[in-house]
Amino acid sequence: MNISDLYAAPKQVDDLESCVFYHTIDLPNSETVWGHVDLRGRERAYLGGVDLEGKTVLEVGPATGHLAFFMEQHGATVTCLELPHSDVGDLVPRIDLENWDQILADRRRHLDQIVNGFWYCHGKLTSKIQVIYGTVDDLVEAGATFDFVVLGGVLLHLRDLQLRLQQFASLARQEIIVTEQLLAPLDRSDSAPIVWLAPSKGNEVWDHWWRFGPGYFSGYLPILGFPDLKVTKHEQSCLGNMFKHFTIRGRRNIKV
Ligand SMILES: C[S@@+](CC[C@H](N)C(=O)[O-])C[C@H]1O[C@@H](n2cnc3c(N)ncnc32)[C@H](O)[C@@H]1O
Repeated sequence: MNISDLYAAPKQVDDLESCVFYHTIDLPNSETVWGHVDLRGRERAYLGGVDLEGKTVLEVGPATGHLAFFMEQHGATVTCLELPHSDVGDLVPRIDLENWDQILADRRRHLDQIVNGFWYCHGKLTSKIQVIYGTVDDLVEAGATFDFVVLGGVLLHLRDLQLRLQQFASLARQEIIVTEQLLAPLDRSDSAPIVWLAPSKGNEVWDHWWRFGPGYFSGYLPILGFPDLKVTKHEQSCLGNMFKHFTIRGRRNIKV
């Protein structure tokens, strides 16, 4: 199998009513779609200042695609990996929550609306980004590799964290770039190997498994072949409030 066999056919979406937007994105003709996350003007920080010109990039979990479109507009050839259509992701099995069945039903509808929002923007921006609705296993099987693999706000959702990160790393020829929110209790030294299991009996967390300090990645990425590390911190806007994030760029120790 070749990677191009995995590309989804572009979906024509003109109907705003069928869309939900995760990111706020400026579109041509003074149109803006409004999402709860607004990375506008802070994209470079979110990506750790990486130079995108001429690079091939895999973005895992683009949601509305603001970062993917930004990377394309700055000279990268971008491929996105998004959940398969039938898949609600690695949800925490919160059968202890009374409304669990409703959460599951709402989740699928929400993901479909997010996908529509992506294609709405893709069309307006006349983007050439290719999207794969599948799993990292599909990419590994197809022998796909990219200069950069970008994992923004996605690893916290993955139940099989260690294995998936290993697989994503294997797709990166030059760099792996990870960005996550940095919660205050985890904001300690950049080398403290902190990963925190988020769901517990005392909360109702169901859509993510983990929270991280950068030290989790500075411990694990060198083992995966990325010894040259750079950690940066920045603030990003969600629902009008600023939240601290970190980005860690891991570079392979080979000259490509
Ligand atoms: C919080 S959004 C991050 C959006 C964007 N990457 C950013 O940093 O702003 C999480 C995204 O990851 C996707 N996602 C969750 N689990 C995934 C998986 N196993 N494979 C691919 N994408 C996944 C979700 O559908 C969503 O698009």
